[in-house]
Amino acid sequence: MNLRSRGEFCVRKWLLFTGPSLIAGSSFAIPMKKAHIQYLVCPDCIAPLALVEAEYSTSERVISGVLRCKICNQDYPVVNSIPRFGPESNYAENFGFEWLKHARTQYDEYSGRRDSSLRFESETPWPSDLKGEMILEVGSGSGRFTAKAAQTGAMVISMDYSRAVEANYASNGHCDNVLIIQANLYKMPFPKASFDRLFCLGVLQHTPSVHEAFISLSPYLKPGKHIAIDCYCKRPGVLPWLLRAISAKYFVRHFIRLMNPEKLYCWCERHTRRLWPLAQCINKIPMIGPTINRRLLVVYYGDDYRDLSEEMLKEWGVLDLFDQLSPMYDSPQYLATIRKWFDEVGLEKTDVQYGYNGINGRGVKPYGELRTLCDNRLV
Ligand SMILES: C[S@@+](CC[C@H](N)C(=O)[O-])C[C@H]1O[C@@H](n2cnc3c(N)ncnc32)[C@H](O)[C@@H]1O
Repeated sequence: MNLRSRGEFCVRKWLLFTGPSLIAGSSFAIPMKKAHIQYLVCPDCIAPLALVEAEYSTSERVISGVLRCKICNQDYPVVNSIPRFGPESNYAENFGFEWLKHARTQYDEYSGRRDSSLRFESETPWPSDLKGEMILEVGSGSGRFTAKAAQTGAMVISMDYSRAVEANYASNGHCDNVLIIQANLYKMPFPKASFDRLFCLGVLQHTPSVHEAFISLSPYLKPGKHIAIDCYCKRPGVLPWLLRAISAKYFVRHFIRLMNPEKLYCWCERHTRRLWPLAQCINKIPMIGPTINRRLLVVYYGDDYRDLSEEMLKEWGVLDLFDQLSPMYDSPQYLATIRKWFDEVGLEKTDVQYGYNGINGRGVKPYGELRTLCDNRLV
């Protein structure tokens, strides 16, 4: 196969994989900026990439094509204006399904609440004006935080391993300061020390090795620059261990986590809607109501989010139930473990505490070399 047909083959494979419904989505509305290719390198040999066989909407905007490594000639397709690195099929596929179903559910503009803004502001207490800076978002999902990062005026590169990038592109692909790519955090297509800020929210616990995922991040920061992560937490002690051991979520996951996502989603929807009236009553039982609902696997936010309509509450309930049951990996960590990891990679000014979504951690990359552990083992 010659190089040109190799590129076309890659693109066709991706088109088949992403499916016609997505291709018909808004991704083509404003194609990616050709100039953004400068931020990417071959994830294997860290060499620059050349765009070939491109389809342009204007001379500056790329709809599709192939990014070819200038050293090893490896091809990476650009499909629906999104550069794709890594295998088409991977362990994060259920997330792709989830975020395409719920592309807007958690956007504040959609819910009318400020949950995503508050979480972003609390976990990344960074200035609101970051013009001139480069931000990397790892594991964007539907892109609710991409939008927040883009509002700072920084150049934002947002990546996810799953087809969730399609949902993100539909919402944020039009921003001139956003580049969305599909890639694996264990093997990112950027030169090291490229970013002023990096955030990774809601992701680490869903990777096959949380430790390796964590230590793969900081090498991409410039010295003196900032990282913010979070991770599900587990509490030390016998009682928390026992509660986890008998938790309905972790018990049921053993049986259904490998189920076809469509079937699992239908089950979550049916289950939530059927038990909804019961959950509403149970939630009123003082002290233990919400715990009983958790045991029944109904995610009911009615008493906390009184401003949401009944339909919206159910939408959030179905999303969160699917989000609990479907990920291939779900590995909460101890606070002490995450603190140890921050020290291990040599981050400074660290602040690792219980917070939103479990544990929040922030730190600054020191000037000089990071400890060799992360450089040698992972990147
Ligand atoms: C629970 S979602 C969180 C999405 C988003 N950060 C949010 O909070 O709305 C976790 C995301 O991490 C992504 N992810 C998991 N493993 C990854 C990997 N190895 N590389 C990049 N993204 C990954 C999944 O595809 C998924 O979209």
